Amino acid sequence: MMNKIAPPPHCSFEPDDWLRLAGYWYPVARACDVGNAPQKATLLDEQLVIYRLKGQIVVARDVCPHRGVPLTLGFQEEEGIVCPYHGLRFGENGRCNRIPSSPGQTIPAKLNLTTFPARERYGLIWTCLAPAQDTDAPLPSMPHWDDAGFQQITCPPFDVAGFAGRQVEGFLDVAHFAWIHTATFADPDNQEVPDYSPAETPYGFSVDYWSTVGNYPASAEHRGPGGFKWLRRFDMYLPFTATLTIHFPGESRLVIMNAASPVSARKTRMFAPIARNFDLHVPVEDVHAFNHKVFEEDRLMVETQRPERLPLDLALEAHIPADRSSIAYRRGLKKLGFGEFFLV
Ligand code: FES
Ligand SMILES: [Fe+2]
Repeated sequence: MMNKIAPPPHCSFEPDDWLRLAGYWYPVARACDVGNAPQKATLLDEQLVIYRLKGQIVVARDVCPHRGVPLTLGFQEEEGIVCPYHGLRFGENGRCNRIPSSPGQTIPAKLNLTTFPARERYGLIWTCLAPAQDTDAPLPSMPHWDDAGFQQITCPPFDVAGFAGRQVEGFLDVAHFAWIHTATFADPDNQEVPDYSPAETPYGFSVDYWSTVGNYPASAEHRGPGGFKWLRRFDMYLPFTATLTIHFPGESRLVIMNAASPVSARKTRMFAPIARNFDLHVPVEDVHAFNHKVFEEDRLMVETQRPERLPLDLALEAHIPADRSSIAYRRGLKKLGFGEFFLV
């Protein structure tokens, strides 16, 4: 049962912005981490419980409809998750299927968890808190994930103490490679940013960025052919998910999805599915570790930027020619109606 949704108590967003943000899909867990046991997640300040039952994923408010105790304090049974306070049990679709104190009585139809739609894609569980009534909004799409020869890797999530918009803007930013990412893939002597121009798309914008900045680990530099031009294709799915397709020499491709899930206005949980068609013998743990290292390099910048949120009025920060993606990003958000909230 889909209930009318409103911003949760103690919401850190303005109500209008919250409602707008709530209309999009965000990942809330890795699919491999969700089983029958109730699992906790927070999205846009809403506390959620996630569990699987009989092949179905349930994403619901983490509030028992009886007396409001979080289901994540409860435990699993074969037929559902059990609230620890009075033992009500909730199964498929979040329906109550047991009231221990009156086992012989019919269960009121209203005794349901407040559920949200759930989809499993790119190794992640996605949900949307306020889906539009008449449209089936698409998830961000990820190039090559389903292509033959590609390996799918879903990195463990990690938390950033900052606003999702700042993190995503950093992911799109190509001028910081030579400053922040020199211990992983970038070259401190290759600082110049060649021209590039973002193009608007129905979902946000895309950018083809050509440069000589390689993407092999810094420790394996010899693998890059001299003078090779690297293509980095960014696809921005407003508001907070972007994919980056890196064209390695030959037919080798690496795709990274940067799915920033807004826990609150000040906290973000990052999910990063990866697809690649080379180095398939390299253990996935090594890919997790390399990717984690790159994101860690960004952490201090993203967590200390001020204002904490993202000024959408372009007059409020200075811009340099390398910022065309950042500018496209802010314009895109503004066009969707986001505004004052993105200032502190
Ligand atoms: S509060 Fe959950 S069963 Fe009573
Ligand atoms: Fe970065």
